[in-house]
Amino acid sequence: MPTALVTGASSGIGAAFARRLSADGYRLVVVARDAERLTALAADLGDTTEVLPADLSTDAGLTAVADRLGDVDLLVNNAGVSLNRSFLRSTADDEARLLRLNVHAVMRLTHAALPGMTSRGSGAVINVSSASSFAPVMPGSTYPASKAWVTHFSESIGRAVGRHGVRVMALCPGYTRTEFHSRAGIDMSRTPSWMWLRAEDVVAHGLRDLARGRLVSVPDWKYKVAVFGMRHAPRGVFARVAKDTRSRDGR
Ligand SMILES: NC(=O)c1ccc[n+]([C@@H]2O[C@H](COP(=O)([O-])OP(=O)(O)OC[C@H]3O[C@@H](n4cnc5c(N)ncnc54)[C@H](OP(=O)(O)O)[C@@H]3O)[C@@H](O)[C@H]2O)c1
Repeated sequence: MPTALVTGASSGIGAAFARRLSADGYRLVVVARDAERLTALAADLGDTTEVLPADLSTDAGLTAVADRLGDVDLLVNNAGVSLNRSFLRSTADDEARLLRLNVHAVMRLTHAALPGMTSRGSGAVINVSSASSFAPVMPGSTYPASKAWVTHFSESIGRAVGRHGVRVMALCPGYTRTEFHSRAGIDMSRTPSWMWLRAEDVVAHGLRDLARGRLVSVPDWKYKVAVFGMRHAPRGVFARVAKDTRSRDGR
């Protein structure tokens, strides 16, 4: 039975990954800070699920999870956060916490997982990035920059480890209905319903693209078109349409 470790499994896209991978026959290790929610998820998934509570913005949390990666066949680096304040209003501590989770944890856990995978000649890492990683959308927000790192890192490392039989892929969803925006205090009430994706669909698309050997996966045609625009539109044109989705109050 292959083993998958999913970070940020207590809600949203991570919980959807855990449920789908469990149904696909993986033994699960589920990671997040909220031990109670992880235990409830594990009870749903069955006896083989292992609960590993950890705060991935801390060294102790990262070490505990890195130490568990030895026999893991699929690592899903999914835990991530945004902030509801622009860089000028934010504190350096909050920005550092965001980078520790969105960037440093992804690097550290990928680095810990790859030696076992390359020596076995099999395995995969999915790093959950964002459609916003392709351009500096949301003026004043540092979140897209953190995700730009995740996308470039995954593509770069994915190219290097392919010859060892190992895959690394960035999964870049657009707006997905999870707790992500409410946790950050971002008002999304004016976002039209057609822009929202379902976490289960994001996961299914990502796993399909991983099986196809893609290095970067963008679920849903709407966001494929948007990403094409972000990659190819002149920056000046793009800047005029880029919007900050955060609420006025939060700035
Ligand atoms: N939702 C979207 O529109 C969207 C779009 C593009 C990309 N994404 C990306 O998708 C990923 C998953 O987010 P989501 O949308 O599923 O949001 P979510 O529902 O808020 O889930 C975030 C998960 O991360 C965990 N987490 C947060 N801080 C953590 C920490 N310090 N240590 C360990 N775990 C932590 C949370 O659990 P605990 O609170 O229990 O720790 C939770 O399980 C993120 O990387 C996000 O950037 C989301």
